[in-house]
Amino acid sequence: MRTRTRLVGSTLLRVDRLGSTNDLLRSLAQQGASEGTAVVAREQTAGRGRMGRSWASPPGGLWLSVLLRPPRPADLRLALAAAVGAAEGVRGASGAPVGLKWPNDLVLQRRKVGGVLVEAIPPWAVVGIGVNVNLDRALLPPDVRKSAVSLAEVVGHMVDLDAVLDGVLAGLDHAYDALRHGRGDEVLDRWRRLSVTLGQPVRVRIGGRVVQGIAVDIDAAGALLVAGSAGAPVRVLAGDVTLL
Ligand code: BTN
Repeated sequence: MRTRTRLVGSTLLRVDRLGSTNDLLRSLAQQGASEGTAVVAREQTAGRGRMGRSWASPPGGLWLSVLLRPPRPADLRLALAAAVGAAEGVRGASGAPVGLKWPNDLVLQRRKVGGVLVEAIPPWAVVGIGVNVNLDRALLPPDVRKSAVSLAEVVGHMVDLDAVLDGVLAGLDHAYDALRHGRGDEVLDRWRRLSVTLGQPVRVRIGGRVVQGIAVDIDAAGALLVAGSAGAPVRVLAGDVTLL
């Protein structure tokens, strides 16, 4: 039997309040932090989301970043692996049937319960994971309140934040280990099984362009394949997906 030491979270820093865990980890990387170092904050005052959006991070959520040194820091499959690890970890810790919306939104009951922001600073990648664990939705900005949900709301009781942290660290460790050791296909299959996107009609905003069709699959690079009424499926490497 193969045994190995866990890489992700091998060093774990807990901070009470800061701007963004991704920013702290970026500066720790410049100061020589080692791969696997993780930072978790009780509260972020300048949390960032994908596409330049801000990410509301009041107390009660899991606000976590992990420093990785993958062969290709900007590999889209790393973002998918992080989403798989986070979803599997949250499922194990809370029992909530979290699914994934391409590329890396964690969803429950068609609402967003968490997300992943990977920032590549070669040779590093900072993987930021946010999960609305015991959040009071009233503390979220009005524009996200309707489309967001917390784990506690869905399971009907407060969820142990440390259990979610442990689950997500273990889940990310497992998925990253597979990706690093040439088992990326296994990670993509796990993503497919967790997906709430595949088989669904979607609208994808790619910069100023909009593509509409059925999300048929992801390819070997992790790109989303959207089939319209005619021609070959459109291959989406970055964009914002709405389930129709
Ligand atoms: C998304 O837009 O869905 C991604 C959200 C990622 C939020 C997390 S919280 C921890 C880490 N620090 C940040 O500033 N952002 C990420």
